[in-house]
Amino acid sequence: MVQTYKMYINGKWVESDSEETFTRVNPATLEAIGKFQKGNEKDVDEAVDAAEDAFEEWSEMPAPKRGEILFKVGQLLKENKEELAKTITQEMGKVLAEARGDVQEAIDIAFYMAGEGRRLFGHTTTSELKDKFAMTIRRPIGVVGLITPWNFPIAIPSWKIMPSLICGNTIIFKPSCDTPLCAIKFVEILEEAGIPKGVINLVTGPGGSAGMHLIKHKKVRAISFTGHRDTGEEILRTAGIKRVGLELGGKNPIIIMDDADLNLALDGVIWGGYGTTGQRCTAASRVIIHEKIKSKFEKMLVERIKKLKLGNGMDEETDVGPLVNQAAQEKSKSYIDIGLKEGAKLLIGGHIPKMKGYFFEPTLFTDCLVDMRIAQEEIFGPVVSLIEAKDLTEAIEIANSVEYGLSSAIYTNNIRNAFKSIEKLEAGLTYVNASTIGAEVHLPFGGVKFSGTTREAGIEGINEFSEVKTVYVDYSGKLQRAQMDD
Ligand code: UN1
Repeated sequence: MVQTYKMYINGKWVESDSEETFTRVNPATLEAIGKFQKGNEKDVDEAVDAAEDAFEEWSEMPAPKRGEILFKVGQLLKENKEELAKTITQEMGKVLAEARGDVQEAIDIAFYMAGEGRRLFGHTTTSELKDKFAMTIRRPIGVVGLITPWNFPIAIPSWKIMPSLICGNTIIFKPSCDTPLCAIKFVEILEEAGIPKGVINLVTGPGGSAGMHLIKHKKVRAISFTGHRDTGEEILRTAGIKRVGLELGGKNPIIIMDDADLNLALDGVIWGGYGTTGQRCTAASRVIIHEKIKSKFEKMLVERIKKLKLGNGMDEETDVGPLVNQAAQEKSKSYIDIGLKEGAKLLIGGHIPKMKGYFFEPTLFTDCLVDMRIAQEEIFGPVVSLIEAKDLTEAIEIANSVEYGLSSAIYTNNIRNAFKSIEKLEAGLTYVNASTIGAEVHLPFGGVKFSGTTREAGIEGINEFSEVKTVYVDYSGKLQRAQMDD
């Protein structure tokens, strides 16, 4: 019997007003994981009302006390790490070792944000006038809507929920329909840690009805979204006057110079291109390679790709798990046809293997030209495109030729090349002699250009989820007019 799960609104586990459910399957085995509530507009309204009611008390609780609750969340995530990791692997397919990393990232940000409860710094500064004090303080935004993707089903909710909570906001959490069970287990932990009722509300269901209603809702003061660029654009058009933070896609390059340590670069390309089956917005989907080392590196890469073991992520031997669903599998396949038609050379992979589940072979194209669709568009699968460059200037030009700008990397042993890339690469993140993935939670994360509008995690995560209020205290006892009196 497939279990039916509920949503969490106003401190209770409830069924949807729609009386409808949807089923999620394990992408490696195609077995049903559970049935989940198909939340509708009325559920969103209830959740928003609950969040609004809970706001006063939660925002008035001293931030260090909220921090204690977050600390407890971190501890519970740690205690349940293995079970949560298994749920991630079963629900979206990533290999167990990476799923443990996903949970660890959530733990890290819970502890980091717990500590922020004793900081939440503003500024104090000078005033133009005598006997007058000037400062900024942080205030919560209010009710916030957090819409999260399936590729980091515990970490990304935590990136958004922890800073929202420490800043004193109350939350409607709408996870991807591909990972509702991870969201439920996460919210169970928040409940167990003692988050008061109404502070966190979970509405599962499709983005179309529930999600869009949340985005439009007048009482929701901010939306934070991680996901596909098209949805991000729709959110911007729909949201009205509220804060919108978007983390969108990437077409992240690794530049490999002729002076690089090629074995190191090889590890970086394999990890960045095929880790999480290419389903990270930071995945390395383009390798821009110096012409002098191109053919040598191609051979090294093909040999390594041949050895990657495709399979169920629960098996510790597996290197590459399935894609998240059938649409993702079809999308990767369609880009193989596009790449071949465009004249790129397929070096390895490109097929849906004959095995149960939404698997796709790790794929490498070479002789790609900068304006080919496979070198421009986000595929979100295990497909890497190699592009040749004659020198660093051309490599950077190619790297910057896409509409995205999330992550980037360069492998080089030349300090000029390294610093020139740090300066010139149009991206929110640049790695030197490391792959494009693996951001740490105490540093800001986010992209430029069409990769998004915000920075999350680190202190920027606090900026995303708080309002800055400017305060003037005049203790002169008389009217002092700024810009007029001395
Ligand atoms: C994402 O793919 O949406 O840097 C986030 C990384 C991870 C986060 C990825 N820490 O790859």
